[in-house]
Amino acid sequence: MKSLVTGGAGFIGNHLVNRLLEMGHEVVVLDNFRRGNKLDKKTIRSIELIQGDVRDRETVLRAAHKTDWIFHFAAVLGVDIVADNPVETMDTEVVGMSNVATAATLNGTERVIYASTSGVYGKSAIEEAVREDFAVSPKSSYAIAKRYNEIYLASLFEEKIFESVSLRFFNVYGPKQDRRMVIPRFFQQAIAGDPITVFGSGAQTRDFTYIDDVVEATMRLATQASGCGIYNISNEDEHTIKDLAEAIVKVTGSSSKISFINPPENRYDFEVERRFGSSQKLFDLTGFKPNTPLEKGLKIVYESCLAEGVPA
Ligand SMILES: NC(=O)c1ccc[n+]([C@@H]2O[C@H](COP(=O)([O-])OP(=O)(O)OC[C@H]3O[C@@H](n4cnc5c(N)ncnc54)[C@H](O)[C@@H]3O)[C@@H](O)[C@H]2O)c1
Repeated sequence: MKSLVTGGAGFIGNHLVNRLLEMGHEVVVLDNFRRGNKLDKKTIRSIELIQGDVRDRETVLRAAHKTDWIFHFAAVLGVDIVADNPVETMDTEVVGMSNVATAATLNGTERVIYASTSGVYGKSAIEEAVREDFAVSPKSSYAIAKRYNEIYLASLFEEKIFESVSLRFFNVYGPKQDRRMVIPRFFQQAIAGDPITVFGSGAQTRDFTYIDDVVEATMRLATQASGCGIYNISNEDEHTIKDLAEAIVKVTGSSSKISFINPPENRYDFEVERRFGSSQKLFDLTGFKPNTPLEKGLKIVYESCLAEGVPA
């Protein structure tokens, strides 16, 4: 089996690449290193690594040559980064997906596995864990483009061109995550003994899903899903951001205080008060759902911070 991973030098991508290598896949990574390169040296020696842009069709065609599966994970993400770069965000999603679809079509690729987002639910996640059949209401350019791509993949399947799986991730965390995301940022502040800065009241909730569970779910769906499906990948566990900050203070033994500050203005439009998901559909198909308790995952992240000698 040969797989292309776009965005494979990123946080989720590098963990996925290691898993594919363990499974004996030949792996090609296409990444423009916008967020650096998280692949370790040993992995780099075992793969074909192409530094290039998913918005460039020729590059994607070259990267996808003779691949059985394409994991399309390249994206611009992070609330502030998306708000500051809406056109790049949309182009990376929409042009990137168009190029991936063209390459998969010309190449006869069997399946595209796409990293979508729980952000497609927008504010519909209020009273209960969201399921895939809940109404979507994406708000940011990022979430709207992700939803567009889910539909685009469905249309290609209807035309019998290739199969696909769209993965709606709920706040993935783990070692090697980008420093600007909430958990690495709180770890940096806790380790430095600085105030942990929570936007607003901290009552907003999220469903934090540990990276190993995400990779496991992704591989099970890549192997077992057929047709064109959409699956939540969530821990089914709702935590407030205040609870998260307190848990990180506890795990690190930090003296940091929690400080509640006004969010940057551009966040207001995007922020959702509550979000947590149901992974029942994933479980019904694969017999697996994410199950790492938050405190356990946070301890592993902290150990990796200490081992690397740098904040997360
Ligand atoms: N981490 C999460 O909580 C989360 C939640 C929902 C969805 N996702 C999705 O999962 C995927 C992986 O996210 P991640 O957390 O690993 O983020 P990440 O930023 O670490 O990885 C994304 C990678 O894409 C690369 N990239 C960006 N623009 C590119 C371009 N034009 N051409 C080629 N490469 C490009 C970046 O350099 C980076 O390595 C993304 O599609 C993201 O939208 C992640």
